[in-house]
Amino acid sequence: MPYAKIIGSGGYLPPRIVSNDELAAELAARQIETSDTWITERTGIRQRHIAAPGVKTSSLAINAARAALDHAAVDAADIDLIIVATSTPDFIFPSTACLVQAGLGIRGGAAFDIQAVCSGFVYALATADAFIRVGRAATALVIGAEVFSGILDWSDRGTCVLFGDGAGAVVLRAADTPGITGVELNADGGQAKILCTAGGISQGKIVGDPFLRMDGQAVFKLAVTVLAQSARDVCAQAGMTPADVDWMIPHQANVRILNLLGRKLGIPAEKIVVTLDRHANTSAASVPLAFDVAFRDGRIRAGDQVLMQGVGGGFTWGSVLVRI
Ligand code: ACO
Repeated sequence: MPYAKIIGSGGYLPPRIVSNDELAAELAARQIETSDTWITERTGIRQRHIAAPGVKTSSLAINAARAALDHAAVDAADIDLIIVATSTPDFIFPSTACLVQAGLGIRGGAAFDIQAVCSGFVYALATADAFIRVGRAATALVIGAEVFSGILDWSDRGTCVLFGDGAGAVVLRAADTPGITGVELNADGGQAKILCTAGGISQGKIVGDPFLRMDGQAVFKLAVTVLAQSARDVCAQAGMTPADVDWMIPHQANVRILNLLGRKLGIPAEKIVVTLDRHANTSAASVPLAFDVAFRDGRIRAGDQVLMQGVGGGFTWGSVLVRI
């Protein structure tokens, strides 16, 4: 049975960078008080990239996909599976994955979206791995892409300071050597209300609340608990412990979650890839964007064991263990 191996990655961030100070000034103009100090101390976030009005998730995803294909030296025509993880698709349908396929100028093969919010990329990677393991695909493009700025309530300082826009992608190819060696996915729909965008469209109207709502403290506590257990479980599948991994790439939500997780698992801070200071929380894009940064700057090398983890709305969480 072949393994699914990551052979290239790419990322794309919209050009507009909004620093905490700029955001605080914009909010102050609307009598909403926040500060660089509050945001940095509570979250570790210093800035975020925000897409220009009208820029869609598929556009970010296509840019990241092109960068990943170039990095992997793979022709787009070789791709026989595209999975896009997103909670901010361009449309209800067609899927963002189909728009990406068209944008890359290719046809055929499977293309679909996965919606698991900030766990989306890990869910998508696990799904592509399953396709490749059983021989249903040979070369897959797995993308996490979001324009979260479009679902934020910019009058809610408890959420609007946390998120940014972006896209990250990897190319997976069937190989005789590992590869993805462990997968662990979970959900608890009973916790849906702690993090949701509970609106929809019906009869031509928005029904419900179109903005992201979050119980930050409940999310924080649950994220640390479930990610620690998930890390132990996925490493056990490969006969390892979390302390044995070379790199950990958790979903980039809050640096305090990352630090606490590292301490619980015995993983030193130097082994945890952190990009949320520059990218903020880009939901499904956060893990592939962070992977791309560390892969391209040479920290992650061939042979390294990388633990990727997602956690988010649903409530969903999961881990993928990859040998590069
Ligand atoms: N600026 C200034 N003050 C603020 C801000 C802000 N941006 N936001 C909240 N506050 C205030 C609150 O109003 C509150 O004031 P009060 O004490 O007068 O009532 C005070 O700061 C403390 O608020 P808390 O919510 O208790 O702050 P906390 O330390 O819990 O930090 C945070 C909030 C950063 C949201 C934290 O709970 C967190 O990171 N939670 C996890 C979030 C997360 O991971 N979300 C993403 C999940 S991924 C996905 O699926 C989308």
